[in-house]
Amino acid sequence: MLYNVGMTADGKVVSVEGDARISGEEDLREVHRLRAEHDAVAVGANTVRRDDPMLNVRLVEGEDPLRVVFSSDCTGIPLNCRLVRTAREIPTLILCAEAEPEHRRRLERRGVEVEEVGWEGEFADVREGLRVLYERGVRSLLLEGGPTLAWSFLKHGLIDEFRVAVAPVMIGGSEALTPVEGKGFPTVAEGVGLKLKRVERLGRDVVLWYEVVGSARELAEEHERARGEPD
Ligand SMILES: NC(=O)c1ccc[n+]([C@@H]2O[C@H](COP(=O)([O-])OP(=O)(O)OC[C@H]3O[C@@H](n4cnc5c(N)ncnc54)[C@H](OP(=O)(O)O)[C@@H]3O)[C@@H](O)[C@H]2O)c1
Repeated sequence: MLYNVGMTADGKVVSVEGDARISGEEDLREVHRLRAEHDAVAVGANTVRRDDPMLNVRLVEGEDPLRVVFSSDCTGIPLNCRLVRTAREIPTLILCAEAEPEHRRRLERRGVEVEEVGWEGEFADVREGLRVLYERGVRSLLLEGGPTLAWSFLKHGLIDEFRVAVAPVMIGGSEALTPVEGKGFPTVAEGVGLKLKRVERLGRDVVLWYEVVGSARELAEEHERARGEPD
């Protein structure tokens, strides 16, 4: 799974007032290309409420991926959001812990598919969600946020790659979210280790491609070993 995000140079993915249009036009086109290359694209319910995204392929030629939203009971998915309004034309699936029956019927009447995956704490079980997607033939998933959903995947080691477009702007704000929120790992050593695979300049942005390689501790140990080896 690839987690893709646009971030300011000071590490924010959305401003305190909810502005998440961070990366430039060139990156947006690239994100559409990534969508076309994946079987499915996933977001959390809050991203749907805040950004009302389409999650389809418009800026390049290519097929739309299956659009997937993770939700707790699906009542938080507004019936008038763009995903629901276009569900008859573009396949749209809500993976929820447990669907509220009436809202589920309203969504299904509009062409949205709803599947229950059970609870993990207060949220939908993402591992079961991935199993459901696999059974439906999804072999590649592009995660487009938000940071709360990203934590659910990260903590289970389900993210393989991380692509971040860093925009040359700083916006501050202690309430402004970063790429991964949630509970967080208690120490750096327990964090998820990344290996930088590629750096690209894309218009005014810098795009960093990382591969997830294990724990941060393992990465540090590998680094130490490499330093200790004679040339
Ligand atoms: N810069 C970028 O690239 C970028 C990309 C995406 C989003 N964003 C920004 O990020 C913000 C939204 O992020 P967010 O962290 O607040 O919310 P989020 O991750 O988009 O959605 C979280 C919500 O998803 C539902 N959910 C269901 N199962 C879940 C699970 N297992 N783990 C986590 N959530 C689960 C819950 O909502 P219910 O209980 O209501 O169902 C939960 O509150 C928006 O302001 C958006 O603009 C920025």
